[in-house]
Amino acid sequence: MRSLYILNVTVHVLAAFVWLGGMLFLAIVAPILRDLESPELRSRLFREIGERFRWVGWTCIGILLVTGVLNLQFAGVLNAASLLDASFWATPYGRTLGGKLGAVLAMLLISAVHDFFLGPRATSLLPGSAESIVFRRRASYLARVNALLGLLVVWAAVLIARGG
Ligand code: HEM
Repeated sequence: MRSLYILNVTVHVLAAFVWLGGMLFLAIVAPILRDLESPELRSRLFREIGERFRWVGWTCIGILLVTGVLNLQFAGVLNAASLLDASFWATPYGRTLGGKLGAVLAMLLISAVHDFFLGPRATSLLPGSAESIVFRRRASYLARVNALLGLLVVWAAVLIARGG
């Protein structure tokens, strides 16, 4: 049982690495593409990088949700007696878990808006046009907010692993 638990946390942490690492790379390094002179090349690179990272990111999200719920099972709190009891959510563990789940939900919503609306819209408009720049800026802003939320989630996770 202990080996399964360790394996599950390892997979959980690896998925968090890949997702957050990719998001931080996109937020910190990828904006250098803006310096490219050709608007067509810039737009194509943004689109291809975005599309490749989209399936990597959503695969990691799926793994994080499944292994995260299993983490709760291993911690012995995945039951109605804990989750439906207000006093559980008032403990340090419950409060931090609630904060982490809230931040995870916000990240999911932001990722969906970014990956399925703003990003594709920005790269489908005429490269270099005023409208495409507006959408690209919005997509880039949301990506940064999400990366910051991701750091908060990791902070909450580290607290949870130590009792909250
Ligand atoms: C439904 C979503 C999630 C749930 C229910 C969940 C739950 C948990 C739990 C209970 C632990 C403690 C495991 C243990 O040591 O026994 C944990 C650890 C961890 N989680 Fe999550 N998690 C979720 C999503 C995420 C996401 C989205 C990220 C990062 C972006 C993340 C990053 C981590 C990390 C890095 C650890 C290891 C912390 C450490 O050992 O110090 N989790 N998670």
